Amino acid sequence: MTDSRIPALNGAEVNDFLSREEFRRQSNKVLHGHPSPLHWKPLSSPTSLLLEERASYSQNTQFDVNLYVGTPFCIKTKPARCGFCLFPSEDYEGNKGVELYLDYLQKEFELYRPYYSDDKLGSIYFGGGTPNLYRPHHYPRLMQMVDDLYGGVPSDIEITLEGIPQLFNEPKIRALKEAGFNRVSIGVQQFNDKLIQYSGRTQTLAQVHTALELCHKYDLANSVDLIYGWPEQTMDDMLGDLRNAVDAGVHHVTHYELNIAGRSNFAAPAQRKLLPTIPQNIEMYLAANEFMRSAGFEQVTVYDWRRLPKDAETDRLSSYQYEHNMHDFVQHENGRVDEIRQVCGIGFAAVNFHPNSLSQDDRCWIYMNQTSLKEYCAKLDRGEFPVERGFMYKHADVKLAWLFQSMQTMQIDHIKYAQLFKEDILETFAPIWEALDARRWIQLDDQMIQFVGVGQYYIPLFQSLLANKRLDEIRGKRSGKRSISDIPIAVD
Ligand SMILES: C[S@@+](CC[C@H](N)C(=O)[O-])C[C@H]1O[C@@H](n2cnc3c(N)ncnc32)[C@H](O)[C@@H]1O
Ligand code: SF4
Repeated sequence: MTDSRIPALNGAEVNDFLSREEFRRQSNKVLHGHPSPLHWKPLSSPTSLLLEERASYSQNTQFDVNLYVGTPFCIKTKPARCGFCLFPSEDYEGNKGVELYLDYLQKEFELYRPYYSDDKLGSIYFGGGTPNLYRPHHYPRLMQMVDDLYGGVPSDIEITLEGIPQLFNEPKIRALKEAGFNRVSIGVQQFNDKLIQYSGRTQTLAQVHTALELCHKYDLANSVDLIYGWPEQTMDDMLGDLRNAVDAGVHHVTHYELNIAGRSNFAAPAQRKLLPTIPQNIEMYLAANEFMRSAGFEQVTVYDWRRLPKDAETDRLSSYQYEHNMHDFVQHENGRVDEIRQVCGIGFAAVNFHPNSLSQDDRCWIYMNQTSLKEYCAKLDRGEFPVERGFMYKHADVKLAWLFQSMQTMQIDHIKYAQLFKEDILETFAPIWEALDARRWIQLDDQMIQFVGVGQYYIPLFQSLLANKRLDEIRGKRSGKRSISDIPIAVD
């Protein structure tokens, strides 16, 4: 086994961490990469150099790519940013701004042509912001940009567009279908007309149902995002939301716990008073699991539920390839790496995740585009890649990134980890597994670490636990008590 283990806490530190954090709100619930973007800095290498390096790695390993295309705009709400949202966005000021943005987006696509055109496309996600603010004629243009970059879009891959319910209408859904999109993710958050008002959105239950009916009419796989732990939400409200989604025939449900951080309205003291407590959230998590299972859904990640496949067609409709691809981003045979999956992001605030190799001395990185539209455009005007900041991985970070992804699926294959990274994860983190086992939050066998019961709810906390010592190193501290859970994460 290698001597480059991930640095780890000892038994006393683990127990101290768990008793301190167990009933605190964790702020890394929605996004689960390592390390948090708060640790990213302007990169010292020019983007073009990184991309040339990446091309040389791709001589040895096939890169299978999840393409993310970012959109900045959102409809203004009061409170701002829907009250809860931690994603970067810009106010929608009309179609002129959208048209202008698309011109810039196209420029960025063209900059990437020398570097990405040989990649194998695995799936595409148009995220935001609010990508269903585009008008029907914009969708074929977006697809054309992808087509031009990759020299074609495979007909069998998942192509998702996300949006808010009230902006889906028949001309848009028809245009999406005709342009080749095959999956729609609807940010419902709350079906309840009263509770949704906390977000300042003008969204109604009727609009959500219309959007879903249109998806079904045009045979588009559909998913809804819901949030539990919302202000004034009761167990009945939460179960009512899930029942609404199930009864409307959705193929996939993402059920996030409300993530409170930063300067969002929901994080303000007056709003915090309205939130369910952590023990209530845990009860909701467990009740939601029971309900979804009894409704014929299968849990795929801490948050994701898919309608159980009865046949190949349901299997296609209910899968969520974009996310699934990254949960196990290294394909290998007995530790010999055959294929690495990467995220290539283009557009406002998009992230590029390039785990180029698993060798200790090779370079891997993650970087994010500008989160200010003005800066995004200014860089492109100068002919530069519109990158804001990033992080150059050490070997321990690649391992943690892999572990974080795996933990999303509520298990770690420790044998596979050992084959890939030549490290015994059971040994490195022995005090952690011991503490979690004592609380009955995991089950361990010859192959797997399974997170069970309340242990699944706490997965974001355990991710922080595994990364704790390494984060101290990143912060330049020898040791420290502050945990990643103090840190808001705002970027996917
Ligand atoms: C990029 S965001 C929003 C996409 C789209 N504009 C919308 O509002 O539906 C994707 C999802 O992240 C989730 N999300 C955003 N902020 C969150 C928070 N603070 N806590 C929990 N979930 C959050 C929401 O469920 C949202 O649908
Ligand atoms: S929740 Fe969606 S619509 Fe609201 S601010 Fe965030 S990205 Fe925009």
